[in-house]
Amino acid sequence: MHEYLKALPKAELHLHIEGSLEPELMFALAKRNKIELKYKSVQEIKSAYQFNNLQSFLDIYYAGAGVLIEEQDFYDLAMAYFKKCQEDNVTHAELFFDPQTHTDRGVAFGTVISGLHRAMKDAKSQFQISSLLIMCFLRHLPEEMALETLKQATPYLDKIVAVGLDSSEVGHPPEKFERVFAKARELGLMTVAHAGEEGPPDYIWQALNLLKVKRVDHGVRCLEDSELVAHLRKESVPLTVCPLSNVKLCVFPDLTKHNLKKLLDEGLNVSINSDDPAYFGGYMLQNYEETQIALGLGVGDMATIAKNSFRSSFLSEGEKEVWEAKIDTLASRYLKL
Ligand code: HPA
Ligand code: ZN
Repeated sequence: MHEYLKALPKAELHLHIEGSLEPELMFALAKRNKIELKYKSVQEIKSAYQFNNLQSFLDIYYAGAGVLIEEQDFYDLAMAYFKKCQEDNVTHAELFFDPQTHTDRGVAFGTVISGLHRAMKDAKSQFQISSLLIMCFLRHLPEEMALETLKQATPYLDKIVAVGLDSSEVGHPPEKFERVFAKARELGLMTVAHAGEEGPPDYIWQALNLLKVKRVDHGVRCLEDSELVAHLRKESVPLTVCPLSNVKLCVFPDLTKHNLKKLLDEGLNVSINSDDPAYFGGYMLQNYEETQIALGLGVGDMATIAKNSFRSSFLSEGEKEVWEAKIDTLASRYLKL
């Protein structure tokens, strides 16, 4: 199974690039930018990564992102992630980035996007990994600030495929961002949103009906609403599930209790993703492997999950078909073994 899961072409649809900042790189960038960190060693950072909910993680995550200052820092961050993609056979990645985390500290929007974009170009030419950028709004901040961020993005719209919504979910429902999402759609951007990670099923309905999202990020709480499940199945709405993240943030007590198999059995369009791998202890392959083992998933299930990841991506129909066919060929070889 290990060899098969590694060989499976995979698309990552739920990855916060700031969440791929490994403690080693955090330390190196702090030194390069002469920033004082709260921690004295990589080991000390790692032992601080004990979370009991989303907020306890976000506090540490935003502090960590404070070492990212120069264009080269964003390039190094993204290149380190793409190297992991190459190891795990992630052939396509759609990266979330949080501009407000950086612009609020005085880092220019252009600095962030040019560093990320340069790495994306190099990942394509050096590793044949395709990638797209999704700009997330921080939902704990007012919608006016999201509108301002969308304005700042205007010169770079050709480098952004969609907008998303992340940060503290409970108390910040999707309806708070209805106007900025409408504006983003008018500008030709696609929309996605985190919903139903810690928030109730109603937040998933809002993301679908008010923000017109193409995908729901997480969405694991949908099972509490059977009407919602029927709707998600009928429309084949992608749920970008992040198993190791969910365990680290105590959404499920352990992986064997994760509801991903139930979501699949309900006929929902589920993919596996890593979310913030530097903080949650595993990149894509580890998420695939640990979930497969914990839930006893078969060769066919894992092929379905990998095919869902491409089908739910923002690649062209032609590109999706190529990857899905490759997965079918590989899976049929392993099914015969
Ligand atoms: N949920 C919400 N916001 C986030 C996350 C997440 O898992 N990761 C980074 N920002
Ligand atoms: Zn996320």
